[in-house]
Amino acid sequence: MIIKFTGDKIFHSLYYYLIAENLQKGDIMSFNPLKEKGISIEKQVRNWHQIVGKPYNKTEVDCYSRTRQILMNGIEVEAWGFKHQLNRFVPDNNDKELIARISRIEDSQQATANWMGPADQSVLETTLGYEQVAVDLTAWMAQNEPDPYVKETFDFGLLEDFDHLYRYSQFAYMTEGIEPDDIVQGQTDVIIGRPTQHHHNCNGIRIRKHYDKLTAHPQTKVNILTLLSGEQQTHNYYAEHGFMYGDHVLRETYAEIKDVEEEHVTMYESLIDPNETMWEKFLIHEFTEVCNYYTCMEDEPDERIKKTWELFLDIELGHLQAAAELFKKYEKRDPEEVIGTEIVIPCRFKSQKEYVQKVLEKEVDKRLEAGGEYTTIKKLPEDWASYKVQEKQNEISSPSENAIRLAGIYHDRDIVAADEELKNKEVDLLKKGLQKKGVAHNTVTPDELEEMIQKEEERKEEKEKLI
Ligand SMILES: [Fe+2]
Ligand SMILES: [Fe+2]
Ligand SMILES: [Fe+2]
Ligand SMILES: [Fe+2]
Repeated sequence: MIIKFTGDKIFHSLYYYLIAENLQKGDIMSFNPLKEKGISIEKQVRNWHQIVGKPYNKTEVDCYSRTRQILMNGIEVEAWGFKHQLNRFVPDNNDKELIARISRIEDSQQATANWMGPADQSVLETTLGYEQVAVDLTAWMAQNEPDPYVKETFDFGLLEDFDHLYRYSQFAYMTEGIEPDDIVQGQTDVIIGRPTQHHHNCNGIRIRKHYDKLTAHPQTKVNILTLLSGEQQTHNYYAEHGFMYGDHVLRETYAEIKDVEEEHVTMYESLIDPNETMWEKFLIHEFTEVCNYYTCMEDEPDERIKKTWELFLDIELGHLQAAAELFKKYEKRDPEEVIGTEIVIPCRFKSQKEYVQKVLEKEVDKRLEAGGEYTTIKKLPEDWASYKVQEKQNEISSPSENAIRLAGIYHDRDIVAADEELKNKEVDLLKKGLQKKGVAHNTVTPDELEEMIQKEEERKEEKEKLI
């Protein structure tokens, strides 16, 4: 382990290394981030060579190294943007300068994280990576979320991003010949979920009930801010890159799914207690960064990437110290009241196929109801507010439905990556997930999907006869 940063850094890296080793052996060691100094802000400036670093190799990288890289970019974008919002309210120039120095460091971390992505990784390949983040991160959080209502909301969002992964996979194959497993490496299933055309809602219906900041567990606060940051960056990525393809249906699909990510930002941010102050939020933001880098450092198999996560953990501990001091100064409260005394684990990336399949089969027909409630298709009233939105947005066609139609022409049937048992349930999943009302004219019906699957079967038999 070669660390050139500071003398302190060597000590800290060894310390975290020992913690990670012990945790892997199943020992429980408590780590209180508020008691760690990290690297002081004035020592956090890096040169361009350190900031830019070297990209990973897209054909060799572990899919979960890529998901960590994508997520941490999103976390840094949020950390940077929040600090600029905060600084517009800060009257004291010394505090303003300190926050400006920190936001500049966040910006440099964003470059390091995002630019680990190689230039030859296409927009569609990166897009599949983004949706793999959403699926496996949300599934992990749902199973490690102490608040049952927040968990229910995670499960709901999960099935939407799961369907996005499937829709984009159609285009990845048709446009660039990419099989889903080239990116998700067999760790995440790719098959129909809650149909994307039904993800468009009346904004009032998307708004959920918020937690109570006085009783919420720090894990809940960190989980929500982590996921919110990921969703926001997913939205931004589609907004900035969807135009880069010439195919009009693909461009429309990016626009359609970007709009759902916009709704996801609304949904997840509405879970946050609006009574949190800006200083409290500052503290939660830095704590969230600490917890995510801590998890990344523990899980990362690539030694070179791991060193960056170790360094960034130390940097974030420095930010947390600064945020805690400002919180104490302005709020005259103990930071432990807000973030507790222990690290939490928000982003343990691993295969979640079994969990996702369970939620998929049970909740593909789930829908949002006003007042932060949930319901199912069968119980939707005739005047459900989201029908109007769906009818307007999909009045000509739903691009994400055309994705399946086109794949049917290119490839006989849709592109899926799942075991035979799940594949055999695809038509039933569509039957259960499809609404009767607010349905686009170009919708692929369950009968049509069955025909496509049949066509592929016949074609296989023909091929076998020829051999
Ligand atoms: Fe950061
Ligand atoms: Fe998504
Ligand atoms: Fe999403
Ligand atoms: Fe930070």
